[in-house]
Amino acid sequence: VIPACSSEKATDATDGNKTPVIAFVQTGADNDWRNAHTESVKQAAADHGYDLRFAEGQSKQENQLKALSSFVNQGVDVIVLAPIVETGWDNALEKAKQRGIPVVILDRQIKTDDESLYVTYIGADTYTEGQKAAQWLAGKTEGTAKVVELQGNPGASPTINRFNGFRDVIEDHPGIEIIASQSGEFRRSKGKEVMEALLKKHGKEIEVVYAHNDDMAIGAISAIEDAGLKPAEDIIIVSVDAVRAAFDAMVAGKLNCTVECNPLQGPLAMEAVAKILAGEADSLDKKTLIEDTVFEMEQAKDFIDSRKY
Ligand code: AHR
Repeated sequence: VIPACSSEKATDATDGNKTPVIAFVQTGADNDWRNAHTESVKQAAADHGYDLRFAEGQSKQENQLKALSSFVNQGVDVIVLAPIVETGWDNALEKAKQRGIPVVILDRQIKTDDESLYVTYIGADTYTEGQKAAQWLAGKTEGTAKVVELQGNPGASPTINRFNGFRDVIEDHPGIEIIASQSGEFRRSKGKEVMEALLKKHGKEIEVVYAHNDDMAIGAISAIEDAGLKPAEDIIIVSVDAVRAAFDAMVAGKLNCTVECNPLQGPLAMEAVAKILAGEADSLDKKTLIEDTVFEMEQAKDFIDSRKY
């Protein structure tokens, strides 16, 4: 599948048009967080008066690579890439570099030996999110718990970082044990499916669910309820994102805690794009990490009305 682009122009995107043409290659549209992220980038581009060309990879790197290649051929001014996985981007980014197209990496990180392939990275501190989830859990359980982990999609930087950050903290809490860890692909339906299987296998041994995002936690909540158990009471649940649906679940007493991962990254991304277009790329930091908050069930009702996504 070649992802759809939002506007059709000929081979050189800037010909006869002074409006900067920015391409945004998104991972997919698989959950509330992702959709809020897409909207934030689109809105920020519109606020800057840019012509935004959008493609989403339907959760496949292959599709994102095709979109990148297409935008390079179109000769857009800047490419913003939210990479589904960390590795495998060098060839595509090398082609952008050869064509003189600067690239901003947004949301998820890439691994490369050649840091000159992108101008700047902007995203959440997903390693710290994993640490915060573990710190909260250590406090809540006084350092003793049997945990099942629902991971995001394999190879994605938030999956790797939330996995490592969590473990680096529980290392100091030997009573916290991860008894199972599986991918729920950052999806609600998959989170439910994986949790059903884990409940069948481990039953009442499971004391805690640590989900790498809220959507999977919400899927797990329905599996827990279907199994006749009370989420947030019989099984403690901590997840990441702090989307509106997580606040709904917390207010309903079904989710204990969510660590924020702010998807409203569009303004920062477009500020970076503006600097690049103004010839000030050198003034940008190589890495900008966005600060996150931790929200507990008890505070949820105070924040729910202000949650837009
Ligand atoms: O990269 C950020 C993560 O990706 C969010 O936590 C998740 O919900 C999304 O799919």
